[in-house]
Amino acid sequence: MTTGLLLLHGFLLDAEMWEPQVEGLHDALPVLAPNLPGFGGAPLAPRAGWTDAAADLAAEAVKRAGWDRAVVCGLSMGGYVAFSFWRRHKDLVAGLILANTRAVPDGEAAAKGRLDLATRLRAEGNGFLAASPPPLLGAQASPDLRLRLRGSIERQPAEAIARASEAMADRVDSTPDLAGITVPTLVITSSNDAVILPDVAKAMAAQIPGATLVVIDGVGHMSNLEAPDEFNRLVREHLSRCQ
Ligand code: MLT
Repeated sequence: MTTGLLLLHGFLLDAEMWEPQVEGLHDALPVLAPNLPGFGGAPLAPRAGWTDAAADLAAEAVKRAGWDRAVVCGLSMGGYVAFSFWRRHKDLVAGLILANTRAVPDGEAAAKGRLDLATRLRAEGNGFLAASPPPLLGAQASPDLRLRLRGSIERQPAEAIARASEAMADRVDSTPDLAGITVPTLVITSSNDAVILPDVAKAMAAQIPGATLVVIDGVGHMSNLEAPDEFNRLVREHLSRCQ
């Protein structure tokens, strides 16, 4: 029985954001980090069904790799895709890691902001986002990490970001799925996450039977990049629960 670790990246970035995990965890089990539709050179997917298409693309990668099951780790938007993966490909899931993410959908104002962002991206390109990104990193993040993140945002096509933004506005409420999660689940949040507040992640964890909740202290939204050693330690610990 081959079990691997499937890493699903966040918004504005591509699979490269998982470099510290690919490097730090490949000795524990096989690791895959696919680029989600439109990002990192992957083909675009239509707005309608984008999240499901992303989950299906990841499931295909798991099957192609010859794995029987995967521990599915999604950060933020990657978590929204992980919920879709769970709904559509349960038989492939050995465990879940839901990092800096949430089950609840957008409210009206947030959804409108995403659609406005998509319109602006199509009119102006993505330069304004790279120059002034949302607060993905905590205040303590190094200038080097900020530069890397900026470069990564600049590499993504504006249309890819626009479609993902629309898809996040459209995303379904995954809260009804939480009570039915039957695989070992680790919920990671960070004390300084300004994009998805720790309380939102904590409320989600409380609804997943037997979930382990960890708050990484002193870092922001991109916990895997801001605290890679701690993140990897938590993943390793969780892998032993997913046998
Ligand atoms: C992400 O980091 O993937 C996004 O900020 C998620 C979101 O905007 O909801």
